[in-house]
Amino acid sequence: MKIFLFNLFFVGIMVACSSEKPTYEYMPDMMDSPAVKAQKETMRSPVAGTLPRNYVPYPYGVEEGDLAGQQLKNPLSISRETLTYGKDRFNTYCMVCHGADGKGQGSIVPKFPMPPSLHSEKVRQWTDGRIFHVITQGQNLMSSYATQIKPEERWALILYMRALQRAVAPKDSDIEAYKKYLQSQ
Ligand code: HEC
Repeated sequence: MKIFLFNLFFVGIMVACSSEKPTYEYMPDMMDSPAVKAQKETMRSPVAGTLPRNYVPYPYGVEEGDLAGQQLKNPLSISRETLTYGKDRFNTYCMVCHGADGKGQGSIVPKFPMPPSLHSEKVRQWTDGRIFHVITQGQNLMSSYATQIKPEERWALILYMRALQRAVAPKDSDIEAYKKYLQSQ
């Protein structure tokens, strides 16, 4: 009899376990624990203005591109290293729409509307900071890349964008330098 009851007890538990929704709470105090659950309303919310560690907020609103353009300076300078890095970033994030040469014939076009050329007079006159603003905040159809591309990567790819621009519209000094380079070969 004892064994029979014991078995019955066990079968009871097994039935309770196998059903999708628990119908029988064997130890209800574990389910309805009096302890405060994490992420409940009772949790203290962070002080207003709290930022995640290492997060630097971007201070310019979408419409403040010109101000950003005046105030933001590219902290990187041209070197083989920054250009190689910048090229890699550009080809990873921008090429699909803007094309490898920045003229707007990326592989996604014309499924996606063709973006304007990065060689326009307007963009060539823009400061690095103004371009940084577009990457950070987006512009109309182009969305923000702030979460995917770290600020340092943005600055490096802008340097590479400058190199693309100069390849398409070289300065006289670039042509002179190139001639000298060819002669030295
Ligand atoms: C999904 C496609 C797409 C990607 C990816 C993309 N862009 Fe754009 N970009 C656009 C479109 C479309 C516009 C035009 C937005 C508008 O109508 O103002 C644009 C505009 C721009 C402009 C302003 C040009 C102007 O004449 O106003 C710059 C600068 C620019 N993009 C740079 C970049 C850089 C740098 C990257 C990579 C980090 C990038 N874009 C990634 C589609 C893209």
